[in-house]
Amino acid sequence: MRDYLIAPSILSADFARLGEEVDAVLAAGADIVHFDVMDNHYVPNLTMGPMICKALRKYGVTAPIDVHLMITPVDRMIGDFAEAGASYITFHPDASTHVDRSLQMIRDAGCKSGLVFNPHTGLEALRYVLDKVDMILLMSVNPGFGGQSFIPATLDKVREARALIDDSGYDIRLEVDGGVGTDNIAEIAAAGADTFVAGSAIFNAPDYGEVISAMRDAISG
Ligand code: DX5
Ligand code: ZN
Repeated sequence: MRDYLIAPSILSADFARLGEEVDAVLAAGADIVHFDVMDNHYVPNLTMGPMICKALRKYGVTAPIDVHLMITPVDRMIGDFAEAGASYITFHPDASTHVDRSLQMIRDAGCKSGLVFNPHTGLEALRYVLDKVDMILLMSVNPGFGGQSFIPATLDKVREARALIDDSGYDIRLEVDGGVGTDNIAEIAAAGADTFVAGSAIFNAPDYGEVISAMRDAISG
């Protein structure tokens, strides 16, 4: 069985109580914290920057923080997020002019690197940089907002990415982001994903522990 990680997206958390919300999902069994960074340019929404990541570390969060950059340009923010305590930094290849350089910058800054693919985007950008990637993140909604419906065509891409990873022999996580919930997580895992972002499915539920356990049961069953 794969080593599965549940990554609540704090985009759907109560921002006025962010530290407590992160503590609550981790206490409820989450593995990593998914941190969505939007710039009102690459995507039509505006969220959090490195100061908030740093504040979570200062507050005492020790779990890995998975920073998903939906910004352009990318490179200027890599050092700031690394210093702020990011564990993973992922970006969209179409948001960076020099993808190889951005990936190398992330690793040089001491973080794990990743590329993110929008629903319409093929995996071609991985071809010459697979050795520089620690995570492949497949968007199963168009990025910008929480609470959207899972786009079913993503499942084929998950299978394609899983084959690519397995053939390469590299240790690369395969994460899916958008519209993931207890109803579809088993199918996404069966297609080959090992890391599951869920925002509204967790934070809109009255009992975070119940949802996270149900997700884990669905993928380990
Ligand atoms: C969307 C973000 C997601 C979002 C997922 O652009 O990247 O991480 O928070 O939210 P849900 O799980 O509600 O689709
Ligand atoms: Zn995300």
